[in-house]
Amino acid sequence: MANLAPVVMDNGTGWTKLGFAGNDEPSFVFPTAIATRETRSANLASKRGCEDLDFFIGDEAIENSKTYALNYPIRHGQIENWDYMERFWEQSIFKYLRCEPEDHPFLLTEPPLNPPENREMTAEIMFESFNVKGLYIAVQAVLALAASWTSNKVSEQTLTGTVIDSGDGVTHVIPVAEGYVIGSSIKSIPIAGRDITNFVQQLLRDRGETSIPPADSLRVAELIKEQYSYVCPDIVKEFQKYDQDGEKYFKRYDGVDSVTGRTYKVDVGYERFLAPEVFFNPEIYSSDYLTPLPEVVDTVIQTSPIDTRRGLYKNIVLSGGSTMFKNFDRRLQGDISKMVNERVRRSEELSGGKMKAKPLEVNVISHKKQRHAVWFGGSLLASTPDFGRYCHSKAEYEEYGPSICRHNRVFGSVM
Ligand SMILES: Nc1ncnc2c1ncn2[C@@H]1O[C@H](COP(=O)(O)OP(=O)(O)OP(=O)(O)O)[C@@H](O)[C@H]1O
Ligand SMILES: [Mg+2]
Repeated sequence: MANLAPVVMDNGTGWTKLGFAGNDEPSFVFPTAIATRETRSANLASKRGCEDLDFFIGDEAIENSKTYALNYPIRHGQIENWDYMERFWEQSIFKYLRCEPEDHPFLLTEPPLNPPENREMTAEIMFESFNVKGLYIAVQAVLALAASWTSNKVSEQTLTGTVIDSGDGVTHVIPVAEGYVIGSSIKSIPIAGRDITNFVQQLLRDRGETSIPPADSLRVAELIKEQYSYVCPDIVKEFQKYDQDGEKYFKRYDGVDSVTGRTYKVDVGYERFLAPEVFFNPEIYSSDYLTPLPEVVDTVIQTSPIDTRRGLYKNIVLSGGSTMFKNFDRRLQGDISKMVNERVRRSEELSGGKMKAKPLEVNVISHKKQRHAVWFGGSLLASTPDFGRYCHSKAEYEEYGPSICRHNRVFGSVM
């Protein structure tokens, strides 16, 4: 049998990235959504019949959400509804990728701290329902580290670093040492893309931008966020710039009412820099969650084993859609460096000038593949000649059962 390219699937809370190893970009990116006939949900577990084909995934699911029931099978990065997920995968493979799963090994991704039972369930579905040739389940953060090797700021191909992965539903800060996630130090932040979109919607409303049709309001807020937002160095100064030279900084968004077809205009102002500021000053958005992202990153590294910390500060890697704001890397690097330098200064002071600390290098890595970093890292690793040795094969699965997929060998460990 020919050695066909591994399939790489990154199923996120909001978006699924789908394609073949060796490519630069996923072939398909669509919402991780499935639309089924409502009446069916009552007897999901019942025998599979032809009516099982009556469902849509991705953009088609959203288009059909008026007549079908729309579901998102992944919550906060983890699969919650296995029946929907299985059918989502079925169409991903046969309708989108159009491949024979028995001819391809599969690389799937998982969030940090995914319970091993979930891996077992995934293996059962992949091997028994789809008969895949091989399976490897990779931790998203490790793939994001591999993706950063394309940046010219990265001098060595290391799997040690701190990954900031911010997608639609959640932001994770994950320290990784030589391919192993330091689980006890991971932190997650309940602010990600969806919250920032809501915040932009609220800001536009508060500023009296009433021309946006209610049905389009969330989508418009998301587009404005993605197209016009950026991270500024200092919000007080930024407000002043807008007030002094509004012409230069205010933008105009032209929309078309999705129901009536009428055109409308929206002024885009302070929300341009206030949107991502939520990461740096969360109190402007939420009264429950108050720790700025740079502080979270610093804490994550400080709680990791002492011999890993230098490597973790040196390689802080960005991944996911919500790290795409312009100058996000620069502000993070500045804010983290300030904290680190202040700590060094204090300890030198405490020693009465007797101790001279070695300077710590802080690097925040932004790169071209950041938007789909997890998928791209999967594409890179699955196209190495060694990938076959990391995969669990169908034969292995048949001999030992799904429990073999509880563990997946760390890349670099069997080179
Ligand atoms: N250029 C951009 N600037 C800011 N945000 C963006 C940009 N492009 C995409 N996004 C946001 O990124 C989010 C989607 O990111 P991503 O695909 O990484 O999430 P996901 O993998 O589905 O979710 P998760 O990782 O939380 O499970 C959306 O909220 C989207 O609005
Ligand atoms: Mg993701």
